[in-house]
Amino acid sequence: MNPIKHVAIIMDGNGRWGRSKGKSRNFGHKEGLKTVEKIIKETLKNKIKYLTLYAFSTENWKRPKNEINYLFSLLNNFLSKKIKELNEEKIKFYVIGKKKFNKKLNRLLNYSEKLTSKNKRLQINLALNYGSKSEIIRAINFIKKKKLGINEKNVSKNLYTSNIPDPDILIRTGNRKRLSNFLLWQLAYSEIFFEKKLWPDFNEKDYNKILNLFKKIKRNFGKI
Ligand code: FPP
Repeated sequence: MNPIKHVAIIMDGNGRWGRSKGKSRNFGHKEGLKTVEKIIKETLKNKIKYLTLYAFSTENWKRPKNEINYLFSLLNNFLSKKIKELNEEKIKFYVIGKKKFNKKLNRLLNYSEKLTSKNKRLQINLALNYGSKSEIIRAINFIKKKKLGINEKNVSKNLYTSNIPDPDILIRTGNRKRLSNFLLWQLAYSEIFFEKKLWPDFNEKDYNKILNLFKKIKRNFGKI
């Protein structure tokens, strides 16, 4: 049985879900946040140490202002209300991506990271203003600045995810089969699960089904 240390998720389909209910795309995001909470609880139950969630990509800035503002207000409210609870659950909160938002959100993100920095039960990496290609270029620039060799170990060590094992599993909901500039380096040997359901419909049962399927896969890492 394969142990599971790290699950990464592309939470796709909120907008379509909202529309399919005759409501707004933002309504879908609001519902999507409920799925986030369910999946965090289930990740704890499964004793998985790392959960990486793709919440906002560098490309998402091209969306209408009203949707961008709504997503960040959801995040703001979620963290303001829940960070103490996450801390009590011994969850570490960590942002991957360029932390360049308005002053209030930057402060809240920094506060949340600092408050939870010592926790060891589960680390949630929230990908915010994240793009994998720019993450890799940033790593190479750090390596050059430090006059180190450009090799796999040094690239890994200079990504946002340094010290975090690569994902065992990537899940993408929403019936699209693409990586959308997410963890391109880190996913080299991950098992990928594309899920038809839209993110707000994804539930604990679907999640556990994937975790159980993963446990039975023979992982070769290039060997036979
Ligand atoms: C992709 O669905 C989803 C996002 C860009 C945002 C994900 C946000 C959440 C799940 C809720 C907020 C989360 C936190 C942690 C505050 P899409 O709307 O692009 O889907 P579509 O393909 O239907 O348009």
